[in-house]
Amino acid sequence: MEPVKVGLLGLGVVGEGTARVLARNAQEISRRAGNRIEVKSAAVRNLGKAEALGIEGVALTTDAMSVVDDPEISVVVELMGGCDFARECVMRAIENGKHVVTANKALIALHGNEIFQAAQDKGCMVAFEAAVAGGIPIIKAIREGLAANRIAWLAGIINGTGNFILSEMREKGRDFDDVLAEAQALGYAEADPTFDVEGIDAAHKLTILASIAFGIPLQFEAVYTEGISAITSEDVSYAEELGYRIKHLGVARKSKDGVELRVHPTLIPERRLLANVNGVMNAVLVNGDAAGPTLYYGQGAGAEATASAVVADIVDVVRTMTADPHNRVPHLAFQPESLSNLAPVSQDAFESAYYLRMEACDQPGVMADVSRVFGDLGISIEAILQKEPAEDSSVVPIILLTRRVNEGLMNEGIARLEALSSVDKPVVRIRVESLG
Ligand code: HSE
Repeated sequence: MEPVKVGLLGLGVVGEGTARVLARNAQEISRRAGNRIEVKSAAVRNLGKAEALGIEGVALTTDAMSVVDDPEISVVVELMGGCDFARECVMRAIENGKHVVTANKALIALHGNEIFQAAQDKGCMVAFEAAVAGGIPIIKAIREGLAANRIAWLAGIINGTGNFILSEMREKGRDFDDVLAEAQALGYAEADPTFDVEGIDAAHKLTILASIAFGIPLQFEAVYTEGISAITSEDVSYAEELGYRIKHLGVARKSKDGVELRVHPTLIPERRLLANVNGVMNAVLVNGDAAGPTLYYGQGAGAEATASAVVADIVDVVRTMTADPHNRVPHLAFQPESLSNLAPVSQDAFESAYYLRMEACDQPGVMADVSRVFGDLGISIEAILQKEPAEDSSVVPIILLTRRVNEGLMNEGIARLEALSSVDKPVVRIRVESLG
């Protein structure tokens, strides 16, 4: 039997890892796929750099379209990243009747609806396991393993770089920029690391997870996105004193009005497994009505962890190439004509508990003022910490934990706190999820 010929677009961290894993585990992989898989060519930006990698038997080119148009190639593996050119290549590959494997979360989150429609029309597969949570087979788990369930919510640590930074800050007191530089050197971070630290990468991944969990179209623009760049070491240690860890979480939850899609730093009780996911590891907790909570854990970034997911997708594609397209697993888990129009809810309608930190004047009556603001709005306070003022300072940090409350009401509470003459602006807020 002729081997299945694959063309790689990109030989960066993940591309090189993919070529390496395919070569090293060739026998095991072909025993699983039922056919040999041969990387025929790879499109790269810098030929000299790619040649220095010493990957044998793979023709190198700088012309990505020559790979996409090569009639011998039946699977195009897009590992370039970026959106515009990647989209062009993927759409042309589909037009040429080729199957596509991609690790590109931005591409899927932003253009997936169009790409899947085109693939559907052409009977092509577009596989994207590597787009979410690196080596964890989370797409397969939700799309296939949990197919019996109505999923109420999922919450995950889905950016390895961000989790690496928060873990090193907490465990070793390291500086944010220093840890970010290490994450870049280790190949964890995005080409533009603001995607990691400002939560955009996690928002891309949450868009995909929410879509396959709830059977809704991909809607990146509806995700509320906040990164970790404003987290201070004070908040990390106050959270710890209260029995919590700060993690950057993606949350998708069905509510009575629609679906909450949000990505932000979150306090999690330290006894929860998710609170103990550290370094570059990712974890996703999925709550289905039949299976109950299930938790998926693994390395969220890095060359071979991501390559593991890419190669698994190639194997899947090779196994099902000859199947009737109508009998394949649908791209977004639900049959395309059965996607739901469950709408994303606005930020004001989100519901969570809150951690608030404010600087207040060290004078009698301040605590009473703060309590009154919340009492008047019917917001219950769960815990209050008042710290000693720093030497030569007349302000004291006050830290509060509230019960679950609607975000619109909390905005009003914070506005009233900031209007108090005894409280300095701004009041720091971090959402709290018990994940119970
Ligand atoms: N920059 C991403 C992360 C890579 O750190 O999670 C994996 O998607």
